[in-house]
Amino acid sequence: MLLDALYCKNKKRPPIWLMRQAGRFLPEYQKIRAHYSLLEMFATPEIIHEVTKLPVNILGVDAAILFSDILTVLNGLGVPYDFDPGPKIDFQGQFHKTEDAYPHIQQAIISLKKELTVPLIGFAGGPFTVLSYIIEGKTSRDFKKIKKLMIQNPTLFESLLEEVITETISYLKLQEKAGVDLIQIFDSWGSALPPTFFEKYVQAPLARIVKALAIPTILFCKGKAIELLPCHPTCISIDWTQKLSDQRQQIPKTIALQGNLDPTILYGSKKTIKQHAHALLEEMQGEPGFIFNLGHGMLPDIPVENVHTLIEVVQTRSPLHELSYSS
Ligand code: CP3
Repeated sequence: MLLDALYCKNKKRPPIWLMRQAGRFLPEYQKIRAHYSLLEMFATPEIIHEVTKLPVNILGVDAAILFSDILTVLNGLGVPYDFDPGPKIDFQGQFHKTEDAYPHIQQAIISLKKELTVPLIGFAGGPFTVLSYIIEGKTSRDFKKIKKLMIQNPTLFESLLEEVITETISYLKLQEKAGVDLIQIFDSWGSALPPTFFEKYVQAPLARIVKALAIPTILFCKGKAIELLPCHPTCISIDWTQKLSDQRQQIPKTIALQGNLDPTILYGSKKTIKQHAHALLEEMQGEPGFIFNLGHGMLPDIPVENVHTLIEVVQTRSPLHELSYSS
């Protein structure tokens, strides 16, 4: 179903999965997390396998996304990092690329493909977003350090970006070879750049990555949609600031669209969640290239039962009046 929608040929209900579905909002995840550090979890194939399957087993989503992080590519770049709880990166000015940096990822994908009955999504961060974490050292609000480097020392900036691009391509090709069905690239913070820089440092690298892969690709860049067309993705994942049906008018019908419920809707009552889910389903009614998702990642304190409600509405299309809810 997900693959049909990606190829804009889905005749059934839209498939649904949720960005960051494998994380902290699930009590079953917290149970495992209590015993390990995040880095230990990301490094252990058996844990990657188990956590990747959690949302499929518990929520019944129509796809699994590999349990890893956009920072995993730093293993191959030889940059130390940790989570505390957000990312902390210790970059000393240059990369020390290492061979065979992802055997745990390869092993987890191979074992997952033997068991999963839904497609497995591999992923990586977009090169600009990954480099912004490396240069900023942590999550940033204004991206001042990386933008300053880009303006003051474009040669150094470009050579670092080039290394991130080539490493990202080999990391994604490893995932493809191991058996993931499609790839999503999160260039979450690309919209920090003005248009000319965006074209050079976000669009062009993403186009190279898409071209290097043989499997379908979904691109996500908060605040951008039509701007991603020159990268030739199979699907564009859109945040909640844009109306999906308006985007459908502008983006060629051969490109699938994914999105775009605001995750904060999931803090609402069952009634609110159902109303918003129905509105989106109605907006995209009969659309063969639509994947239901959030406009950005799941938030850690969203109640699980609310997520169940959302998934039920999309998968059964139960009409509003037939559903029993108290608030
Ligand atoms: O869907 C999934 O849950 C799959 C795994 C996944 C993680 N990170 C695991 C994770 C995915 C797809 C990501 C992507 C990611 N990571 C992005 C791009 C998507 C986006 O939200 O824009 C970014 C920017 C990151 C960087 C990152 N990793 C941050 C900022 C943080 C800390 C805050 C947060 O959002 O949780 C992380 C840690 C992280 N990555 C956790 C998980 C499950 C938190 C786990 C914990 O603390 O137990």
